[in-house]
Amino acid sequence: MAYRFSDRMAQVPESFLDELFRVSAVPGVISFAGGLPGSVHIDLEGIRDAARAVFAGEGRMALQYSTTDGYLPLREFIADRYRRRLGLPAMPDEIQIVNGSQQCLDLVAKIFLDPGDAVGMERPGYLGAIEAFSLYEPVFHAVPLAGDGPDLDVLARVVREHAPKFFYGIPNSQNPSGQTYSEEKRRGVAEIFEGTETIFYEDDAFGDLFFDGKPRLPVKRYLSGQGIMSGSFSKIVAPGMRIGWIYAPEPILREFNVAKQAADLHSNFLCQVILHRYLSTHDLDAHVTRVSAIYGRQCRLMCDLLDDLMPPGAGHTTPEGGMFLTATLPGGVSSMDVFREGVREGVAVLPGVPFYVDGGGEDVIRLNFSAVGEEEIEEGVRRLARVVRRLV
Ligand SMILES: Cc1ncc(COP(=O)(O)O)c(C=O)c1O
Repeated sequence: MAYRFSDRMAQVPESFLDELFRVSAVPGVISFAGGLPGSVHIDLEGIRDAARAVFAGEGRMALQYSTTDGYLPLREFIADRYRRRLGLPAMPDEIQIVNGSQQCLDLVAKIFLDPGDAVGMERPGYLGAIEAFSLYEPVFHAVPLAGDGPDLDVLARVVREHAPKFFYGIPNSQNPSGQTYSEEKRRGVAEIFEGTETIFYEDDAFGDLFFDGKPRLPVKRYLSGQGIMSGSFSKIVAPGMRIGWIYAPEPILREFNVAKQAADLHSNFLCQVILHRYLSTHDLDAHVTRVSAIYGRQCRLMCDLLDDLMPPGAGHTTPEGGMFLTATLPGGVSSMDVFREGVREGVAVLPGVPFYVDGGGEDVIRLNFSAVGEEEIEEGVRRLARVVRRLV
């Protein structure tokens, strides 16, 4: 039977992530390839107690259908946290709960993009966004990251010449590079967007995870009506709950709500109520500060080992937060070879190629430092360095 799939399915870049996850799960392989927060930091008891309390109290309400925009007390919690932590004038009716912030990528693309529309992305860019946007058949314009944020000259040219419907960026501890925009770059980016019809879509999946515990102020604070933000409880509470949110101006949320309702009516309501109960009875800020400090130690250890053990010509980014860094391989060493040889040596890394919408990334690998403990980081980087030295 020849299945007649839509043309748009052919637009999604071929992904070898399935192969990668299969390989990474092989016993004995130390995986720096995934994107998981550390399982040991999920507050199992706290979430269990919150679930028990919900079942004992408002269980029937929590197991019913609900509204598309999400559980109001949870939206109030998120809006209040934006006001308190970041000084953003967020109100609960500007927040909508989604099924993980990954769903924002799909729905934002769905409401804004027609085939052939321009979209701006960072280079390298988040793989999950490239996949989600590709289904709507845009033309990507990649803007290189320059260490402290996007290259502003290229960004200005892309906005001027191609008028993208939106530019998607991750100013805080970007996936895959771990880079954070400087304060100056945040202002520079906002200036470029001012007076244009291009939206800045600010994915803040990692804004809570700065190792020094200090939040960086979002680009949206300079943009109001032109800024969309998304956030997630995945990295700071538990990804399996699949709860994220979008914070956007009302006219955008109206369209977003229509698309969300058509997609799934609403996000898992039981999880929203349990999560809210958990957040009301536990100190999220204290939890996040503790976990970020641990990730900071793991990141520093990985960076030190890379400095000590990798051959000359190798390099890496030095993140201020988040869960990832990218390492650059010495001249001529291919990231796909490092991936294949690495698995044989017992270490899995993610090759950089799929993060580059316009080609490149052959000499880059992404390394995750949140899901593995210090002993595994030590042994894993030793294995990685052996592989790279053999391939030089
Ligand atoms: C930058 C970024 N955005 C969004 C997501 C999606 O996360 P979730 O759907 O769990 O909120 C991820 C997941 O790793 C991510 O790295």
